[in-house]
Amino acid sequence: MKFTVNGEAREVDVEDDMPLLWVLRDELGLTGTKFGCGIAQCGACTVHMDGLAVRSCQVAAATADGSEVTTIEGLGTPAALHAVQEAWIEHQVAQCGYCQSGQIMQAASFLDLNPEPTNADIDIVMSGNLCRCGTYPRIRAAVKTAAKKLKEV
Ligand code: FES
Ligand code: FES
Repeated sequence: MKFTVNGEAREVDVEDDMPLLWVLRDELGLTGTKFGCGIAQCGACTVHMDGLAVRSCQVAAATADGSEVTTIEGLGTPAALHAVQEAWIEHQVAQCGYCQSGQIMQAASFLDLNPEPTNADIDIVMSGNLCRCGTYPRIRAAVKTAAKKLKEV
C-alpha cells in the first residue's frame, strides 16, 4: 500500500483488508488516532482521507491506497496550530482526552464544508463523535470559535 500521510509518502506491506486505523497506529506509530468501538459508532478513529472525515476503523488499506491521509499529528504543528486546535485549547475542551483527536478531525473537516455553522449544524455533524466525559457544550463553543478564526485567516 502506498499513500501520503501528513504530507509524507509512505509505503507499508499489509493485508488489503487491514483497517486504516491499524495501518496508522501499528505500522506507522501514529497513535493519536484512537480505537473506540471498531464499528463506526464512536468517531474516535476519525482522520481525513482526501480532505474528508472518515472513520479509519472502517476503511480498508486497499481503499486508502493512493489517497492522502491526514491524522491529528499532521493537522497543525506545535508552532502553527490549526484554528480548531487553538479553539480547543482556548475552551479547554478535553477532559480525559480519549475522544478528542477524532472530535478535532471531524470539526476541521466539517468547517471546510460549512464555514458558518449554526448550533444545530454543529450538533448534527458532531453527534457521531461520542464523548463519555460529556464535553459537548465546550465542543460546540470551540467549533464556533474555530469558525471565526478561520474567517479571519
Ligand atoms: S473506532 Fe472507529 S468509529 Fe469507533
Ligand atoms: S474527553 Fe473523555 S471521552 Fe471525550
